[in-house]
Amino acid sequence: TGYITLDSGYKNTGATQSSITFLDGEKGVLRYRGYSIEDLAEKATFLEVAYLLIYGELPTTEQYAHFENEIRTHTLVNEDMRKIFEGFPVNAHPMGVISSLVSAMSAFYPDSYDSKQPDATNLHIVRLLAKLPTIATWSFKKSQGHPVNYPNNALDYCSNFLHMMFALPVDKYEVDPAVSKALNKLLILHADHEQNCSTSTVRLVGSSQANLYTSISAGIGALWGPLHGGANQEVIEMLEDIKADGGDTQKYIDMAKDKNSGFRLFGFGHRVYKNFDPRAKIIKKAADDVLGKLGVNDPVLDIAKRLEKAALEDEYFIKRKLYPNVDFYSGIIYRALGIPTNMFTVMFAIGRLPGWIAQWQEMRENKEPIGRPRQIYTGPVQRDFVAINDRK
Ligand code: CMC
Repeated sequence: TGYITLDSGYKNTGATQSSITFLDGEKGVLRYRGYSIEDLAEKATFLEVAYLLIYGELPTTEQYAHFENEIRTHTLVNEDMRKIFEGFPVNAHPMGVISSLVSAMSAFYPDSYDSKQPDATNLHIVRLLAKLPTIATWSFKKSQGHPVNYPNNALDYCSNFLHMMFALPVDKYEVDPAVSKALNKLLILHADHEQNCSTSTVRLVGSSQANLYTSISAGIGALWGPLHGGANQEVIEMLEDIKADGGDTQKYIDMAKDKNSGFRLFGFGHRVYKNFDPRAKIIKKAADDVLGKLGVNDPVLDIAKRLEKAALEDEYFIKRKLYPNVDFYSGIIYRALGIPTNMFTVMFAIGRLPGWIAQWQEMRENKEPIGRPRQIYTGPVQRDFVAINDRK
């Protein structure tokens, strides 16, 4: 085993070549297919970005109309999926629910795994993009004791999601364009991030030629963890705790510095960004704008700003180059849009879906071999078997 290089957490191991997302962690640069994240977040729609990531180019007007129409055609979800959903307890975490239901989709579309049937990958891609927002709203509706809303295909992607979340059969619901615009921006900022934990998971699962639904379901599972996408829920819970604790940010900074506490400052630090996270910069500004526009005064935003300032002035964080990441301010915006805390990571999943799909597809098109890391074995070399009655 002398030739195996150990790289725990793959800190220096390139697992693939990719032409999707460029990231320079020192300079804080992030580009999808060569386009800057700042431009895309300001000027594009989420579906344009999804198209860009998956098909490699920004769509023309005709291509966009066709793509959007394909997605609208598939927003309904098989009623039998609802029956599966009804079996979940009311307080089931929505990440567990969407991961299970996306995996279940493979059973409804068996051509996704039956290699004898004609390849329908593009249809599976469209179905996933169309149906994930529908499925994602069910848990919230159930938690409210309300009936689920069917999609309204007259609406654009973000507005339709908001409609399914917030419309009630008894009132007229109008989507606030400021809300829909903010959601569009957040989804774009989350759409891809090269070989992060969930994307690597999607590629690894897909490398065994497992179907797209199952690969994405595995990615959702990886995203759920608090060190990855789950951090956005943790951030708000942490800020709430600080608020309940009288707003003492220093106490939490000291706790994060103490290795024995087991506590980390959520929304801080990144494997690749060592100067700043360009997504966090855009989101921080968006948080101010959106809360201002919606007239929301959230005391937690003030705590977040104080916490950020104190951390950035602290030797511990400076030395380790720890800066706010994408998850630090995103939750504050989601909250202002009325999205409950336990759905923050679901929002991340909806945003990241096109990236996962693009990466899964690239892995297949490049005919990459099955992913199979090696190890350095540290157990006993060889032992003689001991009969059960002779064991001590
Ligand atoms: N609070 C306190 N200390 C930290 C933190 C933090 N948030 N992040 C890193 N450190 C310390 C860590 O203890 C280590 O210290 P030392 O050198 O003394 O052992 C040093 O900084 C380097 O950290 P690491 O854990 O070796 O770095 P990593 O690249 O393995 O981890 C990370 C990156 C994002 C998992 C980590 O910074 C972290 O746990 N952050 C909090 C969770 C979070 O916000 N995650 C969201 C990441 S961005 C979006 C996404 O991926 O979903």
